[in-house]
Amino acid sequence: MELKDKNLYYVGGVVRDEILGLPSLDIDYCYEGDAIKFAKSRGLNIIKENPDFGTVRVFFEEQEIDIASTRTERYPKPGHLPVVEQIGCPLIDDLKRRDFTVNAMAKNTLSGEIYDYFDSQKDLKSKKLRVLHKNSFIDDPSRIIRGLKFLARFGFELDIETKVLQEEYLENINYDMSYHRIKKELRESFNLNSDKLLQKFINEKIYKLLSPEQAIPEIKGSAEALVNLVKIHNPWIVYAGLFDLSTLELTKDEADIIGAFDNLKTVSFESEWGLYRMFSGCPLESVILWGLVREYDLAYHYLKSLRQIKPSVTGNDLIKLGVERGKLYKEIFDFLAEEKLKNPELTKEEELELIKSKYL
Ligand code: CTP
Repeated sequence: MELKDKNLYYVGGVVRDEILGLPSLDIDYCYEGDAIKFAKSRGLNIIKENPDFGTVRVFFEEQEIDIASTRTERYPKPGHLPVVEQIGCPLIDDLKRRDFTVNAMAKNTLSGEIYDYFDSQKDLKSKKLRVLHKNSFIDDPSRIIRGLKFLARFGFELDIETKVLQEEYLENINYDMSYHRIKKELRESFNLNSDKLLQKFINEKIYKLLSPEQAIPEIKGSAEALVNLVKIHNPWIVYAGLFDLSTLELTKDEADIIGAFDNLKTVSFESEWGLYRMFSGCPLESVILWGLVREYDLAYHYLKSLRQIKPSVTGNDLIKLGVERGKLYKEIFDFLAEEKLKNPELTKEEELELIKSKYL
């Protein structure tokens, strides 16, 4: 059974997705009035409540559900996180503060009626992203990146007036902004692994949101194809890493990827073996980044084939041969890897013979 009430609505992405006939990633509920009072009056099992935001998390029918009160917000500083102005405002005022018309619909949980105050369904049909007011990007520039995400996910394009507002904002960016949200939206967008999205990010100069001075990378091939070769879980860094990320807070793994990419740019190699050695020990994401701005075909070759080539002999085999652990191990494995690259058909027996003849 679902949670229903005459003042309780599904809101935002879930309504959009239902009309599109798509499953929703998460379901947002909104109560017209005070959601915490509602949860208490209905005797719902409250897990957490946040009176400052008017939100409440309840456990209902084996599921955790977040319910927000209808609220209006105000941006104390453009681009910073908004503060709540009024909790329990009319539904329409809550919908008005949102990013695009297609995300500003509500559906009543009891009657099933859809509340569409801004011609959202029309925009949904024509696949248009339209902001609800002219300050939308000034208030929250991360919405520009959200636009890219909806392009990659649903093929939505900016409506002409919204496009002009985006261009105006990108000509006059206020860099005093919440980069936390910029990073979140970049991650969600670029995790969709889309060349089309990257092209738009570059062509429409959206990269300018990251920092005032950005070198524009010349991309040598398909990022999507390289990512698919190795099936990376979080490909966003492969896209974002093409730009200066100094304004973002990176995790250690992300910073290591960027660091290894910077190193690769300074290393040179002369043979296939040199390439293999240059990349081994590097995160795959760094190899992809290098391929995208340097030698695409070589990165492709390494990721598809070379990196799979490994000696069959193991450390245990060396112990059995009586080789003592130490520096010689690395030398032997490097030697074997090089031989294996020259001749990938080499069998384990042949590898052992090679070791015996060269080292024992
Ligand atoms: N929203 C907004 N401005 C933002 C982020 C979100 O107005 N910068 C509003 C939109 O109405 C959006 C809702 O908050 O529908 C929920 O945000 P989020 O969960 O990030 O997006 P969804 O549209 O629900 O999309 P998804 O399917 O990715 O969850």
